[in-house]
Amino acid sequence: MSAPTLDVGERVKRIVGETAFTFLALAREYEARGRRVISFGIGQPDFVTPAHIREAAKRALDEGFTGYTETAGIPELREAIAEYLNSRYGSDVRPDEVVVTTGAKTAIFIGLAAYLRPGDEVIIPEPSYYAYAQVAKLFDAKPVFVPMRFEPGKGFSLDLEAIEDAVTPRTRVIVLNNPHNPTGAVFSPEEVDALYELARRKGIMIAADEIYDNFLFDGARFKSVISYPDWRDHVIYVNGFSKTFSMTGWRLGYLVVRREVIPKMLDLAVTVYSCATSFAQKAGVTALRGDWGPVREMIKAFEERARILYDILSKAPGIEAYMPQGAFYMFPRVKKLMDAMGVDDDAFVHRLLDEKGVLVLPGTAFPDKAGKGFIRISFATATELVREGAQLIVEFAREKMG
Ligand SMILES: Cc1ncc(COP(=O)(O)O)c(C=O)c1O
Repeated sequence: MSAPTLDVGERVKRIVGETAFTFLALAREYEARGRRVISFGIGQPDFVTPAHIREAAKRALDEGFTGYTETAGIPELREAIAEYLNSRYGSDVRPDEVVVTTGAKTAIFIGLAAYLRPGDEVIIPEPSYYAYAQVAKLFDAKPVFVPMRFEPGKGFSLDLEAIEDAVTPRTRVIVLNNPHNPTGAVFSPEEVDALYELARRKGIMIAADEIYDNFLFDGARFKSVISYPDWRDHVIYVNGFSKTFSMTGWRLGYLVVRREVIPKMLDLAVTVYSCATSFAQKAGVTALRGDWGPVREMIKAFEERARILYDILSKAPGIEAYMPQGAFYMFPRVKKLMDAMGVDDDAFVHRLLDEKGVLVLPGTAFPDKAGKGFIRISFATATELVREGAQLIVEFAREKMG
């Protein structure tokens, strides 16, 4: 009998996991050893899901709504999603163009998997949420990273010329995550128009991940790609409930694509997850159609935290802070600090955790080269902790810079 193989397949070998989850485990380990950790690591709102949404899920459970549902999602949720997008963005999405997924992550997976062919290229402005590149690699497509522009004091923007230069006949998809993880950038309507126009000219799809579309600060101007009249020709649209309604653990998201590709998407979806959790879907209807007051309160708190973080960090030597425009992240450059300490990105993050009990993520997790010398700070944590953690980072910086 031959020995069992411990080797995994080639495609799986290519992918990397999510650093935020690795560091979440590390923080828990520290805490188990009795150390206090202020976590600016994983991106999840510290607020519990609003009560009326939790009640809707309980009601669904009590009514016995516990079985499988349609793979595409229950009709009232697909309707509520289409209605929400159309009323917010003036679009014309129909319920049968919506696929409910187990989180935005699954929507990214299904959406890209359906379009990518071996040898296709996927342009990803970088730094970037790590998942897009992994899905591309899994399906024998090639991630093409295009660095974003960083302006000290201002933050990040798309390098539209570099993106256009990166287009080849093999380019199938450009990823547009707006508002942006990890930088907290909100791309201007002019930038979005220019990128969309490029996609039109070259016949390319835009994989638009707009999961942070409700997290907009200080009058940031946001344009959704679903608002273009010809979105069906160019858009794979991803959004979800995790961030807006603080429902990360519920696993509920959605995908919007033109009707003709829905049957193949559903073949893929049913193979991966059958359907999204039944009672979570009922809660999703209440989330969209119910009281948005708690969401507005949460976003107000996030904006206040962004300001606090910025005000404190802008006093730190070696840290190039800026005011985030959206999402709940700041991605400051700390290269001078790393150089002064003579450490690389990973060692920097570990030293900050060891010495000050503050967890941030290394910029190299996003996911290739452009994040080198930066850190991601998620301020989705209690305001008092944001203040205290930011002050500890300043203390750390002052100690190292002398
Ligand atoms: C840009 C982006 N897209 C998708 C996701 C995944 O969302 P979900 O928890 O709904 O799968 C995240 C989570 O951090 C994200 O930052």
